[in-house]
Amino acid sequence: MWDYTGKVLDHFRHPRNVGVVENPDAVGEVGSLACGDALKLTFKLDAARRIAEVKFQTFGCASAIASSSALTEIIKGMTLEEAEKVTNQDIANYLGGLPEQKMHCSVMGREALEAAIANFRTGRTGKTVLEGKVICKCYGVTEAEIERVVRENGLATVEQVTNYTKAGGGCGKCKDEIEKIIVRVRSSPAPAKAPAATAKPARMTTLQKIRLITDTMEREIRPKLKRDGGEIELIDVQGDHVIVALRGMCANCQVSRFTLKDVVEKTLHEFVSPDLTVEEERP
Ligand code: FES
Repeated sequence: MWDYTGKVLDHFRHPRNVGVVENPDAVGEVGSLACGDALKLTFKLDAARRIAEVKFQTFGCASAIASSSALTEIIKGMTLEEAEKVTNQDIANYLGGLPEQKMHCSVMGREALEAAIANFRTGRTGKTVLEGKVICKCYGVTEAEIERVVRENGLATVEQVTNYTKAGGGCGKCKDEIEKIIVRVRSSPAPAKAPAATAKPARMTTLQKIRLITDTMEREIRPKLKRDGGEIELIDVQGDHVIVALRGMCANCQVSRFTLKDVVEKTLHEFVSPDLTVEEERP
């Protein structure tokens, strides 16, 4: 059994934005059923050229579905320029982390996003085409892909490359070539991005934050309070400040401060952001 975070399990059990956008502006497809994982991403832009509607269809394990769901939540409301800066580490961070052996799911999400953006900009097929030298024939992974994950995620071993791309996870014949690529990339002078350990999570837009807070309250918090005859209402979100009103048995309750901090705030930290503070609406 994999050691998944609560957010991974939540996005697996309640995936957001499943399906295909009708008349999409962009389509990105990566992976194949033969390799065990496949992801189709579709999105539509609004008049301000922000991603207004985005959906996914994924064939794969729990972390593949959770990564796809997280990706759609991350990019909703973004411009294409903002979306193309999203990394696989941003997807993993959004989920509170993924088991190392499952990081290839976050990479698949980032690749589908790139394929969709390329489809929108060039009109070319949204299916990824293997370009350049194919290093791993079992999983169809190119030299450029391996170079990129090594550089972006600060990888140092063949095993890590397998975890991030699946390359090397079949017959193993490509492992020597992967090793050479790792040595070459790590000895080259200009790493393009900070290593994974210092990568920052993608910033949520205010709209995304409010939507995630509302969803979390509906799904995780309200049922808990209702069991004790309580109710909660979201009043406002100001930056990282969440203002709520406690109703029913929770209103004027002796332990309402405990409810706010240990139930509401703690749950929002787990599912939305550890930066949030929650306070009750002043009369
Ligand atoms: S060629 Fe890479 S695992 Fe077989």
